[in-house]
Amino acid sequence: MAMKVRKAVFPAAGMGTRFLPATKATPKEMLSLVDKPLIQYGVEEAVAAGCTEIIIVTGRGKTTMEDHFDRSPELEASLEAKGKKALLEIARSVSKLAKITYTRQSEPLGLGHAVLQAKELVGNEPFAVILADDIVDSKQGCMKQMIEAFNDAQASILGSEVVVGDAISAYGCLDCTPDARDPRLLAVRDMVEKPKPGTQPSQNAIIGRYVLTPRIFEMLETITPGAGGELQLTDGIKALLAHEKVFGFTYEGTRHDAGDKLGFLKATVEFALKRDDLGPPFREWLKAQPF
Ligand code: UTP
Repeated sequence: MAMKVRKAVFPAAGMGTRFLPATKATPKEMLSLVDKPLIQYGVEEAVAAGCTEIIIVTGRGKTTMEDHFDRSPELEASLEAKGKKALLEIARSVSKLAKITYTRQSEPLGLGHAVLQAKELVGNEPFAVILADDIVDSKQGCMKQMIEAFNDAQASILGSEVVVGDAISAYGCLDCTPDARDPRLLAVRDMVEKPKPGTQPSQNAIIGRYVLTPRIFEMLETITPGAGGELQLTDGIKALLAHEKVFGFTYEGTRHDAGDKLGFLKATVEFALKRDDLGPPFREWLKAQPF
């Protein structure tokens, strides 16, 4: 019988070097886009996709994330006493989002190694992986689209987008052919992590969204360090290809690389402009600037 995707894994133990010094003591997943940490956007996307269990793989800064998703009795008591009902609701709703468990990656040995740390908590069922610094702005959540595609294909699904030129060298890259049944699906033949410019098999990049079958854990246990000397999730999925079908999936939406300073700035402006409360005055202010 087809299994439902109930669990979402959030690898959040990387060093976030592209965002130093902000990420020296704070995980980049806790950087705030307008007024919400990146990881909360991701958790909300997973919950909207039907996931009920969230597994966060942490390294440093564990307490900030745990505190964020936990109740905050002092804050709540203070807001209640002051009659600040709307703010109280915001503070409380974060802790009610989902069941969240934490597991630790003792050393940042790579994304594949981070996902492997969730093996026991995931068990023998398909699961989602969300890299919280990839923010996808879409009508229907990116993960919801991907889980629907997983339910149809019953095979691992990798979020994918076309990246122009040599920028592909910063991504996992798919060697793939379009699927005859669904134009959004790309049948994966092979894949390569961070191809050298000019050697990429296509311009189809893997983004920070995956729905994976549990067999990936077996594969991740056998891989050796790859690109950048890290244990790469891409190499685990490549090994999975010898046993199962894997598809790339062209999602509807706009992705922002919020783990990068420029990407983060662009996402901040776009998200702020879309807000009912902040958008109009922010737009006015932007228009009035001499730049
Ligand atoms: P990135 O390569 O984007 O994150 O990894 P990073 O290494 O933290 O960032 P930079 O490049 O140094 O700025 C993608 C995701 O995988 C997680 C990161 O937290 C991020 O969400 N990750 C990466 C781990 O959890 N463990 C690792 O060993 C590596």
